[in-house]
Amino acid sequence: MRVLILHGPNLNLLGHREPAIYGMQTLKDLNAELRKRARGLSMQLRTFQSNHEGALIDRLHAERLWMEGLVINPGALTHYSYSLRDAIEAVKVRTFEVHLSNIHAREAWRKVSVLSEGVEAPVVGKGFGSYYGALGRLAACED
Ligand code: DQA
Repeated sequence: MRVLILHGPNLNLLGHREPAIYGMQTLKDLNAELRKRARGLSMQLRTFQSNHEGALIDRLHAERLWMEGLVINPGALTHYSYSLRDAIEAVKVRTFEVHLSNIHAREAWRKVSVLSEGVEAPVVGKGFGSYYGALGRLAACED
């Protein structure tokens, strides 16, 4: 299975940004562990991070025919980006939304995800484990 992992705004600062919430490990650590786990699940992985909504959408379009699954942590775009939501709907691929923190147990504005309707039930609050859980669930979907 070919899987695209998208990381949204500010996730490049993992390990430095609010470590009490997001942990001490970096995005490089996360991608390395994801690649390792993907090999174990016989998956091909591509990863991409951007702080720009349009760049994330462009990458989704570019990988449209390659990817068979998508794991996305949209960062704060989760809460307001209808263009990202439209892009996810447009590419028609099985999608898992993930969050390191439990967005339902934080500020009121974080409880709303404008993306969640079109995607599988979000995996939240497990740190890097949210991504690993989504990969496992994608692998389990394979026919
Ligand atoms: C986040 C939660 C979002 O509310 C926040 O804006 C992020 C990270 C998470 O992984 O917990 O940037 O998506």
